[in-house]
Amino acid sequence: MPVVFVPKETEAGETRVAAIPETVKGLIKLGLQVEVERAAGSSAGFADSEYATAGAAIVDADARSRADFVLGIQAPDASRARQQQAGSILVCSLQPGMNLPIVAALRDGKVTAMGLEFMPRVTRAQKMDILSSQATCSGYQAVLLAAVHLPKLFPLLMTAAGTITPARVLVLGAGVAGLQAISTAKKLGAVVEANDIRSACKEQVESLGGKFVDTGTPPDAETKGGYANEATQEFLNKQREILTKHITTADVLITTALVPGKKAPLLVTAAMRKGMKPGSVIVDMAASMGGNVEGTVKGERVLVDGVTILGDANLPAQVAGDASRMFARNVVAFLGEFVKAGAVNLDMNNEILGAVTIVHAGEVRHQPTAQALAAQGS
Ligand code: NAI
Repeated sequence: MPVVFVPKETEAGETRVAAIPETVKGLIKLGLQVEVERAAGSSAGFADSEYATAGAAIVDADARSRADFVLGIQAPDASRARQQQAGSILVCSLQPGMNLPIVAALRDGKVTAMGLEFMPRVTRAQKMDILSSQATCSGYQAVLLAAVHLPKLFPLLMTAAGTITPARVLVLGAGVAGLQAISTAKKLGAVVEANDIRSACKEQVESLGGKFVDTGTPPDAETKGGYANEATQEFLNKQREILTKHITTADVLITTALVPGKKAPLLVTAAMRKGMKPGSVIVDMAASMGGNVEGTVKGERVLVDGVTILGDANLPAQVAGDASRMFARNVVAFLGEFVKAGAVNLDMNNEILGAVTIVHAGEVRHQPTAQALAAQGS
C-alpha cells in the first residue's frame, strides 16, 4: 500500500497543514496508508490524537524519506526535497519560478513534483483548485483585518448617541478573493464599491450588493482561462484617474488585482493614496507580487501619511483551520484523479495531471522553469 507523508510545514508563519483528520479518511479510502508528522496540524487546530483516530500513524520528520507521496502546503526546502526517494510524488504549491534550487533537487532525485497552483480552471477541476479555496480565505480575512485596524465601525448604527455612518469599502480586483471581500464587507454592513477590468465582473459585483466602478475593459482583457491580461500603461493611467475620486472617499481599500506570471499592476500611486482620510486602512493582497499600492511593504504593516497599509503575505495562514480544511479537500479530490484502490496511474495525457506536473522522471516539464534552470547552467 503506498504511503502518504504529511509534514509539519517549516516556512516561518505557515500555520496550515495539507491533510486534516477528515481527509485522512479520504486518503485511506483511495487505498493509501497515511503518516502524519507529530504536531503537523497543531497550529491549525488539529491534534495528533484526532489524526490517529482517523487512521493515521503519527511519525517523526524522517518518515519523509520512506514515503511514496509527500503532501505539503508550501514547497519543502532543498535539503528536505533531497530526502524524498526516487519515484515518489510531491504534491504542494510548488512555485517553481521562485524555487529553482528545489526544482533542481527534485529533478535530480527523480521525484515527480506537482504544483497545485497550475490546476487548470475547468469545471471538472474546481474541487481541486487551491488558488480559489485559499483566495476565498484571503478575501474574508482581508476584510476582518481592515475592520480591526479601522478606527471606525463598519455598519450604519442609529443609537442614542446619534447616527454612525457605515464604512465605505473599495475593492480593486473582483476575482475570487475580491468577490469574497465584497461579500464579507457587505455582511459587516459596509457600503461597498468594486472595480475590475474583466467585463464579467460587473454583474458579479452587483449580485453581491456592491456598486461597480466602471473603468472600461481593454480589448483583450481576459485570457481563455478567465484570467486578466496585462493592461497597457495608457489604460492604467486612465483607470487610475477614474479611481482617484473613489479612493478619496473610501475608509478601507482592499486590492487584489493580479496578472498571472507578471508583476501586479500599480493601481494606486502615492499621490492617490495621499488623498485618503487619516485613519483609513489599505489591505494590499497583491503584496507578494509587488503590490497594487505604492508604499506597500510585503509582509509588513506600515503607517504612511496617516494611512495604515497592511501587506500581510500569507492571509490564509491567519485562518489556518478552514484554510487547511479547504486545501486538504482539494488535495484528496486531486489524488482521486489518478489514485484508485492504491494503484497510481501517472498519465501525463490527462489534462489535469499534465498541467500540474512540473517535474517527472528526471525532467522539468514546465518550460519557463526549465529555461530558467538552463540559463543558470543547472
Ligand atoms: P487573479 O487572482 O489572477 O486576479 C484577481 C483579479 O484581478 C482578477 O479578477 C483580475 O481580472 C483582476 N485584475 C487584473 N488586472 C487588473 C486591473 N488593472 N484592474 C483591476 N483588476 C484587475 O484571478 P482569480 O481571482 O484567481 O480568478 C479570476 C477568474 O478566473 C475568476 O473570476 C473566474 O472567472 C476564473 N476562475 C475559474 C475557475 C474555474 O472555472 N475552475 C476557478 C477560479 C477562477
